[in-house]
Amino acid sequence: MEHLAVIMDGNGRWAERRHLPRLMGHRAGADALDRCMHYCKAAGVRYLTVYAFSTENWKRSEDEVSGLMKLLSGFIASKEKTLVKEGVRFRVIGRRTDLSEKLQGEIAALEEKTKGGDFTLVVALSYGGRDEIVRAAAKLAGRADPSAPVTEQDFASCLDTAGIPDPDLIIRTSGEQRISNFLLWQAAYAEFYFTDVLWPDFDQAEFDKALESYSKRERRMGGRLK
Ligand code: IPE
Ligand code: IPE
Ligand code: MG
Repeated sequence: MEHLAVIMDGNGRWAERRHLPRLMGHRAGADALDRCMHYCKAAGVRYLTVYAFSTENWKRSEDEVSGLMKLLSGFIASKEKTLVKEGVRFRVIGRRTDLSEKLQGEIAALEEKTKGGDFTLVVALSYGGRDEIVRAAAKLAGRADPSAPVTEQDFASCLDTAGIPDPDLIIRTSGEQRISNFLLWQAAYAEFYFTDVLWPDFDQAEFDKALESYSKRERRMGGRLK
């Protein structure tokens, strides 16, 4: 498997079950992401995309939103050295302009510093699949010759994920079985794996189970072998 994508869901419930503030759940979720990156590298996965904040998540309380933004900026500051050392290329997809200028600057700097890495961590931030598609359509409409024919490749190259292969497997934790506006275009032929485990509890055994399940799938992509 080349590209694993994860809808890291269940941080809030993880915290609530422990009578902790939701933000503690998000912190535990950031640690789980760290671990997951290592499982991926060890398993030979080259791309890991994680859904960290959706375009709809702005509807949450101001406290939770600002806590999450601080957590992200802390993640960027604390991970710089490790990411460079471990050859991790960092990339963000989503509506960057929704983020504070400070955070946008930190993201751009980290992307630049890590651009030589051979493992890619894609973080979806203020990301919505529909929003990404609309922005891509607007880009295409702004071409020198807007009436020229448009191929799927032309369209894909206007998405935030340009140059990144489509995900092979999408995992969603915490028992929800929906896509919640994640990678709508890119998920066309992705396999799905759902687990009841909450994201902060997602460990090596769960990762192995998901990959084992994936390895048994027959990906026909619309064709037939015989
Ligand atoms: C997922 O955890 C992380 C984000 C959406 C930022 P949630 O915060 O959605 O956790 P639950 O679904 O409330 O348990
Ligand atoms: C999806 O989870 C977004 C992220 C994991 C960042 P949500 O918890 O926001 O999704 P819904 O509301 O359950 O669909
Ligand atoms: Mg949730």
